[in-house]
Amino acid sequence: MQWRTRVTELLGIEKPIIQGGLAHLGYASLAAAVSNAGGLGQVTALSLDTAEDLRSEIHKTRALTDNPFAVNFAIGRYKEKYEPFVQVAIEEGINIISITGGNPAPVLEMVKGRGIKTLVLVASVALAQKAEAKGADIVVVVGQEGGGHLGLDDIGTQVLVPRVVDSVKIPVVASGGIADGRGILSALALGADAVEIGTRFIATEECVDASDYYKQSLINHTEMDTVVIKRSLRGPARVINNDFAQEILAIEKQTPTYEALRDYISGETNKRYIYDGTEQGFGYAGQSMGLIHEVLPVQTLMDQFEKDINNARKRVSSLIK
Ligand SMILES: Cc1cc2nc3c(=O)[nH]c(=O)nc-3n(C[C@H](O)[C@H](O)[C@H](O)COP(=O)(O)O)c2cc1C
Repeated sequence: MQWRTRVTELLGIEKPIIQGGLAHLGYASLAAAVSNAGGLGQVTALSLDTAEDLRSEIHKTRALTDNPFAVNFAIGRYKEKYEPFVQVAIEEGINIISITGGNPAPVLEMVKGRGIKTLVLVASVALAQKAEAKGADIVVVVGQEGGGHLGLDDIGTQVLVPRVVDSVKIPVVASGGIADGRGILSALALGADAVEIGTRFIATEECVDASDYYKQSLINHTEMDTVVIKRSLRGPARVINNDFAQEILAIEKQTPTYEALRDYISGETNKRYIYDGTEQGFGYAGQSMGLIHEVLPVQTLMDQFEKDINNARKRVSSLIK
């Protein structure tokens, strides 16, 4: 399948399919596999401990692929930490970055004039327009069915994508709830120039950091099995529903303070679920779990996307005369 969209042109990639930043999971093995399959893989910078760890992850990724890949910065949770990481990305000659979770302006300023393409994640029309005004090259629109951190307004991908497409001039990437070829085709029909996929890429062989327990959970659970935690902290995030997530929700009801929640929502408790495969923690996942039925190699998954896109195209054509 030969693709040509504003995003494939701008980023120099073959297919308009981007692996979303994945805290504690989106590292060299997965990023390189997605880029080798013609999409855009992303190394997730700020769940690494130090900026030098990022440098080494970039070197590992380069050893595994010659294709473009990006570095993702979820700055919201790491306000005091991100600067040296961005500096390393600049020094290493990274030419695509994505920014999420806070005001992107300082990072956009740091990379300005260096020929680095910037993707900014947003979850509203107003924030998309702001990102465009601040110089973002692309906006990634994250609908509320997505896994991980979400916008504050609970707007789904199906409405948010065309709203943003109609409100900005820069290309739009659709994210949230997309896990197969049908979803990809529908996002393009809504006016997006690419898609970003998070949860589906965790259930792949190359997502080597995710425990088998976590991957099987993505298969065994459905679209009914997520809850949104941390609303009380104005940082809503979609996770797999388990007793631990329910405990978090109970604390949020009774004592909605960061101090009361800190030990429950930390990176360490996240890692207990996703690395160690225990129920004494939580795992981020989107409603798209309902569409995940097996762990696949990334290349096979990307081939499957194209087969499904073709089938969906034929189906749509057969319906319209
Ligand atoms: C486990 C997990 C971790 C995530 N971590 C990040 C992150 O560090 N940075 C980021 O930009 N987005 C992060 N996201 C959001 C994804 O990049 C993407 O926007 C989202 O997963 C899209 O929805 P989907 O899960 O339905 O595909 C994360 C999502 C998940 C499921």
